[in-house]
Amino acid sequence: MTISRSDFPEHFLFGAATAAYQIEGMASGGAGPCHWDTFAATPGNVFGAHDGAVACDHYHRWEGDLDLLQAAGMDSYRFSTAWPRILPEGRGAVNAAGLDFYDRLVDGVLERGMKPFLTLYHWDLPSALAGLGGWMNRDVAGWFTDYAELVHARLGDRVASTATLNEPWCVAWLSHFVGAHAPGMRDIRAAAHAMHHVLLAHGTAMQALRGAGAKELGIVLNFETATPASDAPEDIAAAARGDAIYNRWFIEAMAGQGYPAEAMEGLAPHMPMGWEADMDIIATPLDWLGVNYYTRANYAHDADTPWPSYKQVEGPLPKTDMGWEIRPEGLYEILTRLSDGPAKGLPIYVTENGMAGDDHLNACAVHDPVRIGYIDGHLAAARRAISDGVDLRGFFYWSLLDNYEWAFGYDKRFGLVHVDYATQTRTPKSSYHALAAALAR
Ligand code: FCB
Repeated sequence: MTISRSDFPEHFLFGAATAAYQIEGMASGGAGPCHWDTFAATPGNVFGAHDGAVACDHYHRWEGDLDLLQAAGMDSYRFSTAWPRILPEGRGAVNAAGLDFYDRLVDGVLERGMKPFLTLYHWDLPSALAGLGGWMNRDVAGWFTDYAELVHARLGDRVASTATLNEPWCVAWLSHFVGAHAPGMRDIRAAAHAMHHVLLAHGTAMQALRGAGAKELGIVLNFETATPASDAPEDIAAAARGDAIYNRWFIEAMAGQGYPAEAMEGLAPHMPMGWEADMDIIATPLDWLGVNYYTRANYAHDADTPWPSYKQVEGPLPKTDMGWEIRPEGLYEILTRLSDGPAKGLPIYVTENGMAGDDHLNACAVHDPVRIGYIDGHLAAARRAISDGVDLRGFFYWSLLDNYEWAFGYDKRFGLVHVDYATQTRTPKSSYHALAAALAR
């Protein structure tokens, strides 16, 4: 790596991120079922029909996993609490063992000298609530806010920061329009409702948590530079629609700028009744913004499909094992665009950045030079953004461990640490060692 800790401001935080469903093992500890369990149990949705029942067995191995973070010199750890582990039915009876688990986890992070960054929702909607319509039902705002208050009451005295939701675009659009994530809906009206309700839930939870004295409240959004596939005006317009749905919808609404016209041109007829009256709650001021950045999207006009009438086309750049183009300058573009625009004045964290590699364990080692280059390139882009005035406060690699990559099951490996799922053996990859060396003081 060419970059090291000394290239960043003194209090800049380096960390790694995970999410509950992807690592914990939901069959342990009295958790209830969530919509990913049923999505995975339905043919054709998930590679190999893999689910999160065991995952990395982090529920039992969390101490060793926190040791790995500490030994890499990390300053902070971003994790999520699983809603169905705490409230197996989504509301009502509390699973005490679930809250106790996160209590020990937060203490364990602190004992190792790291800052706990909590995310309240990383996609594990309890099945009981999914059965009531989940994110399509306006009541989700109240259900989520009650859950958020419960977690805050137990952990709020020790966490350094709280994000309401991870990647609302995935919660709403990818899951209700594209159908690639649970609950696998492909319906524009369902999508429009979820696109709004996810923000309403964020806003009501922000207000409740702030009222309960919480500090450092934010949200984690995903961004991808939207590139037109050609100079043709139709492709440029297609990219503008993609950009509005993916990159602008959430942050502009939270900034009090309303929903972008290029998205409303298709979604307006399908919005929930009375949505306009919610926009003030949605614009509850944030304390910080989390940015997840992996790649860019290349959009072409597709006359054969209804609105938004675009398709994504393969770009020319080198790709990760997900087929995602590697383009570090996109991180710079996103950070500067946000900080000059709808996130003006907000501290920003890169809450996820990383890549899946074709990683193999050979003689107790995993050689992953491409990942080292990926991290180095994106840290360089982050540093350039800081020198150009972006108030960037930290960078979290996705992910600490190889884990359950949603519809791709255990087939894709993003970890700094390799996981052998048959034995649960952890093996730090070369990228782990390179990052540890870069972070050494
Ligand atoms: C993000 C998700 C995370 C992981 C990475 C690869 O969209 O937040 O859980 O799947 O992508």
